[in-house]
Amino acid sequence: MKTLVVYYSLEGHTRAIAGFIAKETGADLLELKPVKQIPTRGIWKFFHGGAQAILKKTPELLPFDIDARDYDLIFVGTPVWAGLIASPMRTFLTRQKVRGKRIALFCTCMAGPGKSLQIMKELLEGNYVLGEMEFRSTPDEMENWERKAMEWVRSICGGL
Ligand SMILES: Cc1cc2nc3c(=O)[nH]c(=O)nc-3n(C[C@H](O)[C@H](O)[C@H](O)COP(=O)(O)O)c2cc1C
Repeated sequence: MKTLVVYYSLEGHTRAIAGFIAKETGADLLELKPVKQIPTRGIWKFFHGGAQAILKKTPELLPFDIDARDYDLIFVGTPVWAGLIASPMRTFLTRQKVRGKRIALFCTCMAGPGKSLQIMKELLEGNYVLGEMEFRSTPDEMENWERKAMEWVRSICGGL
């Protein structure tokens, strides 16, 4: 079964989860990178990223040569921004043409997933969502991320 993990990560948390999933499944990784990255320092990142998310911006992405349609199972992951999905993930999801695929959704967040998982589900209509998971980027939770990711992946792949 060909498996892909597609994700966006500003500061590495979502990338870490994508890595654990790839380690467990042997999946290919597709990291979405905006042409113009928002600042990663200080409160500016919250201002820029939050505004982009709320305004449903779809920033241009750097080109990539992976076609998600070539895969049977696709994990899709985003950080939560202002209770929503990160804007580069919105770009990908509004442009993708994936239909009839098995999908698993994940987000990383400080306080909670907000509407992020629901939004991804809506933008991936026409596919089969097998599972969803939130990973909180607090020190206590992060200690358990690899085990949590492994168990989640196994629960999804075990049924296939
Ligand atoms: C612009 C911005 C907005 C955020 N909004 C939220 C939020 O609404 N809820 C929340 O729980 N975490 C929020 N966070 C925290 C991130 O979702 C969290 O730290 C995430 O793990 C970051 O993933 P990354 O390191 O892959 O970029 C926000 C972070 C940023 C930069």
